[in-house]
Amino acid sequence: MPGNAAGVMLVTGGASGIGAACAHTFVRAGYRVMIADIQDDKGLQLATELGGDTSYVHLDVREEKDFQLAVDATVSRWGGLDCLINNAAIVGVIGPLVETSLAEWDHAYAVIQRSVFLGTKHAARVMQPRKTGAIVNIASAAGLIAGWSPHAYATAKAAVVHFTSSIALELIEDGIRVNCICPGNIETPIHTGVTDERWKSRMEKIREAQKDDQPMPRFGLPEEIADAAFWLASDQSSYVVGHALAVDGGMLAGRHWRKQPAHLREYHPALK
Ligand SMILES: NC(=O)c1ccc[n+]([C@@H]2O[C@H](COP(=O)([O-])OP(=O)(O)OC[C@H]3O[C@@H](n4cnc5c(N)ncnc54)[C@H](O)[C@@H]3O)[C@@H](O)[C@H]2O)c1
Repeated sequence: MPGNAAGVMLVTGGASGIGAACAHTFVRAGYRVMIADIQDDKGLQLATELGGDTSYVHLDVREEKDFQLAVDATVSRWGGLDCLINNAAIVGVIGPLVETSLAEWDHAYAVIQRSVFLGTKHAARVMQPRKTGAIVNIASAAGLIAGWSPHAYATAKAAVVHFTSSIALELIEDGIRVNCICPGNIETPIHTGVTDERWKSRMEKIREAQKDDQPMPRFGLPEEIADAAFWLASDQSSYVVGHALAVDGGMLAGRHWRKQPAHLREYHPALK
């Protein structure tokens, strides 16, 4: 890799939310960052804001040719690829099973799960000859426990978690570490798909519900996921392979201790 940069990172879905936070965090640490997304205006604006060693490329994660071009553009610009963050996703189809069409199911899987296969494949293509690299997949707490999100999203994220460990076993032979992060509720536009005033009021409703639902009654910040991604990309995590790291404010640890079943709560006044 030319120059003294810390490394080269490519992030899908990098124009918004967690992906944008990853771009900020890695740039601050001296990485050269390729932001990839389908929101071209936002992605270009962020790349401009972040300055010199940041670039933007249009990449629809459903398209293999887009991955091929984005990875090749990154390597030709900066001489290699040290880290891929497979981050882009959508919530996808919501609703009962029998009302879900095949097209809706396939669309959700193409964006959420097939994308991770394509990204990992093309990153590995350029990382394998160099015998080094880190791939970080942004999965979800919803991929580890049912009941927190729609069927297609939850099962596609579960597939991302298992893909991570399965592929990690192969790629570690070439010094490439593959891990994933399972975020809990993070404050980003994914919850509504809109970025205007409606977003704010919807987020307030979710924030209220969290007071009952989770041990740490607040949204996680995109930066808190970016910090975990940065650690998984760095040598600080050099012995971590095929791991699913929950960053979720305790959501997966269990329900709030004050919500223990009534027959247990009656034993102590603090729990009543
Ligand atoms: N926010 C949360 O609570 C939460 C929780 C768990 C997991 N996640 C995961 O974190 C990741 C980032 O989500 P976020 O919360 O930052 O959402 P976000 O909506 O802010 O960002 C998602 C980005 O992906 C991009 N994208 C969507 N479809 C794409 C496509 N076909 N090709 C390329 N880019 C595409 C969007 O344009 C957007 O910039 C996702 O994988 C999501 O499932 C989020």
